[in-house]
Amino acid sequence: MAESQEPQGPEAQVSEAQIAVHWREEEYYPPPPKFVEQANAKDPAIFERFTEDKFPGCFNEYADLLTWDQPWHTTLDSSNPPFWKWFVGGKLNASYNCVDRHAQASPDKTAIIFVPELESDDHVKISYQELLRQVNEFAAMLRDSLGLKTGDRVTLHMPMVPELPVTMLACARLGVIHSEVFGGFSGTACGHRIADSGSRILITMDGYYRAGQLADHKVKADEAVAAARQEGQEVDKVLVWRRRAGQYASQAPMAEGRDVFVDELLSGHSGKTVEPVSMPAEAPLFLMYTSGTTGRPKGCVHSTGGYMSYVAGTSKYYQDIHPDDMYWCMADIGWITGHSYIVYGPLALGTTTVIYEGVPNYPDGGRPWRIAEKLGVNIFHTSPTAIRMLRKVGPEEPKKYDYRFKHMTTVGEPIEPEVWRWYHSEVGKGEAAIVDTWWQTENGGFLGSTLPALQPMKPGSCGPGVLGVYPVIYDEDGNEIPDGRAGNICIRNPWPGIFQTIWGQPDRFVDTYYAKYNKDSGSKDWRDWPYFAGDGAVRAADGYFRILGRVDDVINVAGHRLGTKEIESAAMIVPEVAEAAAVPVIDDIRGRVVEVYVSLKPGFVPGKEMEGKVSKAIEAEIGKIARPKNVWIVPDMPKTRSGKIMRRVIASISNFADVGDVTTLANPEIVDDIRHHVQSAKVARDDVPRDLTEVEFEEIKKFGGE
Ligand code: WTA
Repeated sequence: MAESQEPQGPEAQVSEAQIAVHWREEEYYPPPPKFVEQANAKDPAIFERFTEDKFPGCFNEYADLLTWDQPWHTTLDSSNPPFWKWFVGGKLNASYNCVDRHAQASPDKTAIIFVPELESDDHVKISYQELLRQVNEFAAMLRDSLGLKTGDRVTLHMPMVPELPVTMLACARLGVIHSEVFGGFSGTACGHRIADSGSRILITMDGYYRAGQLADHKVKADEAVAAARQEGQEVDKVLVWRRRAGQYASQAPMAEGRDVFVDELLSGHSGKTVEPVSMPAEAPLFLMYTSGTTGRPKGCVHSTGGYMSYVAGTSKYYQDIHPDDMYWCMADIGWITGHSYIVYGPLALGTTTVIYEGVPNYPDGGRPWRIAEKLGVNIFHTSPTAIRMLRKVGPEEPKKYDYRFKHMTTVGEPIEPEVWRWYHSEVGKGEAAIVDTWWQTENGGFLGSTLPALQPMKPGSCGPGVLGVYPVIYDEDGNEIPDGRAGNICIRNPWPGIFQTIWGQPDRFVDTYYAKYNKDSGSKDWRDWPYFAGDGAVRAADGYFRILGRVDDVINVAGHRLGTKEIESAAMIVPEVAEAAAVPVIDDIRGRVVEVYVSLKPGFVPGKEMEGKVSKAIEAEIGKIARPKNVWIVPDMPKTRSGKIMRRVIASISNFADVGDVTTLANPEIVDDIRHHVQSAKVARDDVPRDLTEVEFEEIKKFGGE
């Protein structure tokens, strides 16, 4: 291992975070000249406009991309750190900016193209004018039939269908705060989020297509309502969109008085229009829940003015969106990527955004490229997990289709240089500029990326901080770490897309993201409040960052953040379980997968049935994405003398990595037992992970702290 501890003077301590990470420096790839010619940001003078001395005024240029009802008087009010206020005094409406103004300028232009999963179903085009009609009618229904008003929260639990942006934009029109829960989450997980946000309305859909099956989705609404009730939140109405007109795709009965079909209720609002409510820039636009280190999910509150400005600006310069592009982001709208870069950013710029319902490899690995060919997609956005999977199932597929991407994005996880090169040469046919964008649910938009026409690509690195964003790498004590060494990546300054707080938990907001590196809690100067992202990273000499992954107890499975505590609490719901610990295992497709270790209360017998129960409980509490790859029932957990479960030890066992020194444990003898049990079972299942890279080994060795 390269834990080089360079001499640093007598008192200097080399903290755990300061690991020299040695990898081969990757070569640069220049952007293709054809891309550069047409790019929105092709003049290097743009860098001058965003130098640090121009902060925060530099961001006015992003806000100017929007139409304001009333201009702002203060770009950044930082008088109450770290609760930043952007574009104070300004008023605007997000729905107006994404729909009305384009419907006026070019009514027939296509806003959304919906691609159903079944290839036998035609795609559906929705013009800006038609979108405006749908948003108006839905907003009228929310207001007049349901009594929703500005500031109310509404939970959405919807799949990838155009009805989802219609619902979001209708909420935004009224200043109602939407909280969309990823469709793949369980009903129970949705219920927790309903309760946390205090929503009395749930909007869902009866079913949707996934991997060729029409999944029953409405059934989850009943679980959600029950889970919310347990936490004291009553849901008055469940609005159910129907995937296919006149049919009902669910087995779950419609609860009398509570459940309503959207189409039936909407018919009473046909042709109605609703004046967009002029919202203060600082009014919340939506909540997006994400996992953290404790069990309770965090509702990230995103603002109207700052968020909209930031996604419009980054969509323009980093996604290089022009109004006449055919833009396809294959993420799910249920995650922040979809909110910012399927709905709000692209629509704010008046482009055409493609929404694909299903899984990328249905019915085969050529599907995305057929869609691209058919629709003439020229900007393509996806995740490393999808790229790894498409590469595995159809490495030769892209060649067979006649499409041309000018620009591609990867987001959500670190991408291996080898996978990046396949993306570049095969998917992009060597003709596309690629951006590897690093950011988080909390951030609203990109934080680290190359500016595609002006900075060369480097596989595996996201690039430098984006315009107006100044990242820094700190050690545990807040000292800047020299280039080439790993530490905690932080952002020195606020930016307009940063979330405002955690819904209902302002102290947790300050503690989680700002307390670590704030030296003076009374300071009113934003310079004293660096944002702690919770990721490990290294900066190379060229200023490009390589993101190493989470430094907290969050596991990134296929680009989805799962809190270990959340998974463990779910396992503990099984009455026989005494203790549970979740750990990451390196996976060639999904990046990381979860394995769960449990010990049982006395008198209970381990076995397949018990493993199944634990797995089911996790799926019911969180959703299929959290289902563990393996559940290991062990006689006891390796523990410190103070009783803390040593997750790093079991993580090492699951990954076939060296467990390190275990002699100081309270029960060192258990380690060999567990290793034998787990590793022989994995060998028998042909489930041995490949050798870990140095960086992966560091992650596993440190997992769970201590
Ligand atoms: C990880 C997704 C490497 C990171 C937008 C971060 C990345 C977490 C990248 C946020 C990237 C995101 N390279 N790692 N380009 N993008 N991550 O909240 O660990 O779902 O903290 O937001 O994903 O995940 P989230």
